[in-house]
Amino acid sequence: MQLQTVTTTIPDWSGDLLAIAVFQTEGTLTLTDPYTTLDQHLNGLLQELINEGEFQGKSGTSLLMRLLPNFPIKKLLLVGLGNRDDFNLETLRRTAATIARMARRERAKTLGMALPHETLEAADAAQAIAEGVLLALHSDVRFKSDPEARQLLPYPESVSLLGLGEQTAALTRAQQICDGVILARELVNAPANQVTPVTLAETAQQLAATYGLTAKILERDECAALGMGAFLGVAQASDLPPKFIHLTYTPPGNVQKKIALVGKGLTFDSGGLNLKTQGGIETMKMDMGGAAAVLGTAKVIGQLKPAGIEVHFIIAATENMISGHAMHPGDILTASNGKTIEVNNTDAEGRLTLADALVYAEKLGVDAIVDLATLTGACIVALGDNIAGLWSNNSELAQALQQASDRSGEKFWQMPLENKYFEGMKSQVADMKNTGPRSAGSITAALFLQQFVDHTPWAHLDIAGPVWTEKEDGYNNPCGTGYPVRTLVEWLCSLS
Ligand code: BES
Ligand code: MN
Ligand code: ZN
Repeated sequence: MQLQTVTTTIPDWSGDLLAIAVFQTEGTLTLTDPYTTLDQHLNGLLQELINEGEFQGKSGTSLLMRLLPNFPIKKLLLVGLGNRDDFNLETLRRTAATIARMARRERAKTLGMALPHETLEAADAAQAIAEGVLLALHSDVRFKSDPEARQLLPYPESVSLLGLGEQTAALTRAQQICDGVILARELVNAPANQVTPVTLAETAQQLAATYGLTAKILERDECAALGMGAFLGVAQASDLPPKFIHLTYTPPGNVQKKIALVGKGLTFDSGGLNLKTQGGIETMKMDMGGAAAVLGTAKVIGQLKPAGIEVHFIIAATENMISGHAMHPGDILTASNGKTIEVNNTDAEGRLTLADALVYAEKLGVDAIVDLATLTGACIVALGDNIAGLWSNNSELAQALQQASDRSGEKFWQMPLENKYFEGMKSQVADMKNTGPRSAGSITAALFLQQFVDHTPWAHLDIAGPVWTEKEDGYNNPCGTGYPVRTLVEWLCSLS
């Protein structure tokens, strides 16, 4: 698909579908510039239609009209933007997604979009609109043999953004960012017989080769030599070898800041001997959503090549399986910082793998560590499907991530690292248990992770909810969402 900005003004644009958008009004809407000129060309037909339908520009509403054959535009789509006071980049992303989907359904080959951007920078607006289009039109048909699944994919062939000036750089940036989001989505969507620790490591190596990153893959014995007993405890029941993945992006010129991103990489979480049951187990291919977002971010950073920041992408990849050599509930593991853990529940495996990955990250001497994990069902209970939990030992870092999230539209809610709750994780025999009581389950999980970070500013994102969606939602389609690649890119670039 071709995506471009054009300097054509609205009445002069010609093509299959032109989309325009208006803010919500109290009563029925009256068109204003630049749309009035268009309506003059239509002999006032659009305003008439608005009046007849009492269209008010509410968010989620739209009007589609077929124009006469002699008119250079075949169809006109009017979309409601909702309240002007709520207008932001996310409004543009979501509106662009709605329009792109409509254009596909209408089989429009050429789509024009003339959306207002108010006080937003035109470049930011162009990027947001492009992201909305690219993400909404991505449809993962890799595992469908039925040709019908591909029928609408060629539409639209070309998307032109009007009224934003020339924004080639912003569109390239959007394309590169969406490349990473789509990689993350596709890694999450692919089942556990396709995305394994071995193929995750291969994907990392391919990214390194393509974008000039360094790839280091530690095998089981190398992890053992580093004392990663927690990670290897989880891995020991799988027939597949664990892979500890470490990609590094080195910027051109000086390094000002070093950052580590750590992603939970359970390519399947059966629960182990604390086996999950139907109604939970069948979705556990997505338990590598953190790893997917880390690799997606690596793909973007490898293309954007921001100055001044060195970024480490770390994944302790394995499966959580059952077998004769599975961990027993009650086993005691020693992590690579020497702390001992009584595994009172083998299904709390993500934190075990992350423990060693966090210790490894801190040893690199980075300025900040951010981990991303589909860590707890409790976080979904607390915050639902659209908001991730954020925990941090550093308010500056938490604030910077929130700022990035304001721009990306991917929501986080900061949760407390309530030390008292760690009492529930006390073990009779080891330094700690890996699970506490049922209450505050996402908080105790975060407190557990904190045991493996000594002094480095650290943030933990529990993305169990937003990593996956069952229904079409804004620019997300049912399946993996690629959350929170865009926020991480935004944050990393703000440091550069
Ligand atoms: N991968 C799961 C968390 C999860 C659950 C992610 C549902 C996405 C959807 C994690 O490994 C897990 O099993 N957590 C347990 C922890 C419990 C044993 C303390 C959970 O949330 O039930
Ligand atoms: Mn689990
Ligand atoms: Zn898990």
